[in-house]
Amino acid sequence: MSTVPNPFDMTGKVALVTGASRGLGFAIASALGHAGATVVINARTAENLTAAATKLREAGIRCETAAFDVTDSAVASAAVDRIVQDHGRLDVLIANAGLVNRAPLGEWTEPHWDVVLNTNLRSALFLAQAASAPMKRQGSGKLIFTTSITGIQGRGTIHAYVASKSGLAGLTRSLAAELGPSGINCNSIAPGYFETELNIPLLSDEAFVKRVIDRTALKRWGKPEEIGGVALMLASRAGDYITGQQIVVDGGITGTM
Ligand SMILES: NC(=O)c1ccc[n+]([C@@H]2O[C@H](COP(=O)([O-])OP(=O)(O)OC[C@H]3O[C@@H](n4cnc5c(N)ncnc54)[C@H](OP(=O)(O)O)[C@@H]3O)[C@@H](O)[C@H]2O)c1
Repeated sequence: MSTVPNPFDMTGKVALVTGASRGLGFAIASALGHAGATVVINARTAENLTAAATKLREAGIRCETAAFDVTDSAVASAAVDRIVQDHGRLDVLIANAGLVNRAPLGEWTEPHWDVVLNTNLRSALFLAQAASAPMKRQGSGKLIFTTSITGIQGRGTIHAYVASKSGLAGLTRSLAAELGPSGINCNSIAPGYFETELNIPLLSDEAFVKRVIDRTALKRWGKPEEIGGVALMLASRAGDYITGQQIVVDGGITGTM
């Protein structure tokens, strides 16, 4: 038997994953849980969260739920405190909850802009603020955000989404700079096009589906479980010397032509 410790082993670690009742967040929770972490999964809809937790537990994962809206920073901070009270630690925050609004520029209103910016960007700062307090006491922790390749390659109609994800990539770097001396890493994952509920309108547009396939080096859309590996790498000891980075997982759409 090998005596070299597995750098991806998450035994004894506690991770909060937001937006984890389905899609990419669920896949990330599953990857961390299979590696041995206790995962606390979050979303707003308690019923969906319970169903997701049941699936993870059936797969042998230690899983708890925390239903809250990430845009309510006081409630989010209280949820982080509760995890620390229950487990004595918090090792990983995956701030993944996000949404999109699609409309031509002329149809945008302030509420449309605010809901996207508050969910995708503002909430990440306050979740990181809450999570970094126990991490500082521990002298270690991993903050991981889900950005998007649309923050790199803009696309029309999703203005607030592109702005929020670009902002989140910047926040990744400023938090990495400030928290590095406390032993806390901050990175983000920029997915390309994945088959999730967020993309139902795109997936039902045959021409758009084909356009993505044609432009992607691997000639297909991503499957949610294909995001889990990079999240595990960043969350585990394997990622201990990576900070301030945005890692693209997109089948080659931004790297090739
Ligand atoms: N799918 C892609 O191709 C893709 C590409 C690039 C980036 N991303 C990013 O990846 C992340 C996950 O996307 P996805 O495709 O997995 O989306 P999804 O299938 O729509 O899942 C979104 C999750 O977030 C939760 N959520 C939404 N608003 C929330 C809030 N205010 N508070 C707490 N939870 C909230 C949803 O549950 P409730 O509605 O019950 O709260 C759900 O669990 C997002 O940040 C998205 O921008 C996705």
